[in-house]
Amino acid sequence: MRPLRMALTKGRLEKDTVALLEKAGIDCTQVHEKGRRLILPVGDGSMEVVLSKAADVITYVENGVCDLGVVGKDTIMEHGTRFFEVMDLGFGRCRFALAGPKGVDFYAGYREKVVASKYPNVTRAFFENKQMDVRVIRIEGSVELAPLLGLADGIVDIVETGTTLKENGLEVKETVADLSARLIVNTASMKLRKKQIEELVARLEGAKKTC
Ligand code: PRP
Repeated sequence: MRPLRMALTKGRLEKDTVALLEKAGIDCTQVHEKGRRLILPVGDGSMEVVLSKAADVITYVENGVCDLGVVGKDTIMEHGTRFFEVMDLGFGRCRFALAGPKGVDFYAGYREKVVASKYPNVTRAFFENKQMDVRVIRIEGSVELAPLLGLADGIVDIVETGTTLKENGLEVKETVADLSARLIVNTASMKLRKKQIEELVARLEGAKKTC
């Protein structure tokens, strides 16, 4: 049997995930010394870590080439849930918010509003829930630019410290959802490698309590 394979979101969540694995007693020396390698053995060799972009973590887990994944709830909300979400890992805490120019009432007036976001599905679902028609424009990054340039009335984006909004004359109008890193599991792996996965989850739960 191949090692239990965990896809891990590169960047922001990577450091916290490795810290949690180490607290759970899983040796991550190879991850620290990875260089440009993308698949790294961890622990006693019964497990390996795959480093990928957030949305790709979901693709690899959904397709069963990775048994587990660590990914933000933001990516889960945008890309779907054909897997089990088994644990809130407690780090990577931030929120999805509707934001817009400071002092301007986003909801004022009758004109259809334009909202820019890297997360069009989340944005559409948020406004559908309010039974409000909006035009959603997909932007790839630095979404704050869209209202500043006059392309959109507001944005739906991740807010962590609020500094980016503040420094660009924008403010939160409404929280859309609270976010954090989640552990996800492929549905077939959950059955086929039940014992190994349950054991790992128990170790991570224990390590999380001591954080
Ligand atoms: C995210 C998000 C905001 C910023 C919020 O962007 O899209 O721009 O972080 O953080 P703050 O509230 O602490 O200021 P990211 O750095 O991921 O870059 P991107 O916009 O290019 O995706």
